[in-house]
Amino acid sequence: MKFSDLALQRYSCRKYLPIPIKEENLEYILECGRIAPSAANLQPWVVILLTEKEGLEKIARAYPRDWFRQAPAVLVICGDHRASWKRADGKDHCDVDIAITTDHMTLAAAELGIGSCWICNFDRETCASVLKLPASIEPIVILSLGYPADSAEPNPNHLKRKKIEEILYREKF
Ligand SMILES: Cc1cc2nc3c(=O)[nH]c(=O)nc-3n(C[C@H](O)[C@H](O)[C@H](O)COP(=O)(O)O)c2cc1C
Repeated sequence: MKFSDLALQRYSCRKYLPIPIKEENLEYILECGRIAPSAANLQPWVVILLTEKEGLEKIARAYPRDWFRQAPAVLVICGDHRASWKRADGKDHCDVDIAITTDHMTLAAAELGIGSCWICNFDRETCASVLKLPASIEPIVILSLGYPADSAEPNPNHLKRKKIEEILYREKF
């Protein structure tokens, strides 16, 4: 599939069928995240996969939404700030790296017909506490995954993007 078609096919899916994701599909998605590039190739990520009822119920406390509770699989994509690359001026590139691996996984899921939704508006303390994360491991993205329900469809935001003329400056700002 053409990259632009795949990128358009992915949308934030918030309605899932109540069926588990095939293990081979989960492995493919995780593998596509594993091979993502990262600053200085430091790969400062840790991914927690939740597919069992107990873990899914616990993580829903960090993002209490009915639609999120429907997801049969959830990835908590964390950054290890001890491992991430810092530029000479101190800028920590952990978030950048986490965004890249997450994006790889959302696109891999879309390729398989699996819906996903980025979630950053979660309660960090609750997330860290239910997963018993050490202080150095920051939960940065929660990614819900599931086969889209028949009624699932993209939100109008999906096609609402700035025009190229609004974001591109050639040669000078
Ligand atoms: C970094 C990031 C954080 C997001 N956090 C949330 C979130 O907490 N809850 C949610 O429902 N959607 C969240 N989204 C989904 C965005 O709302 C969505 O990507 C945007 O509206 C464009 O729609 P689309 O993904 O269907 O193209 C997030 C997306 C990104 C990239």
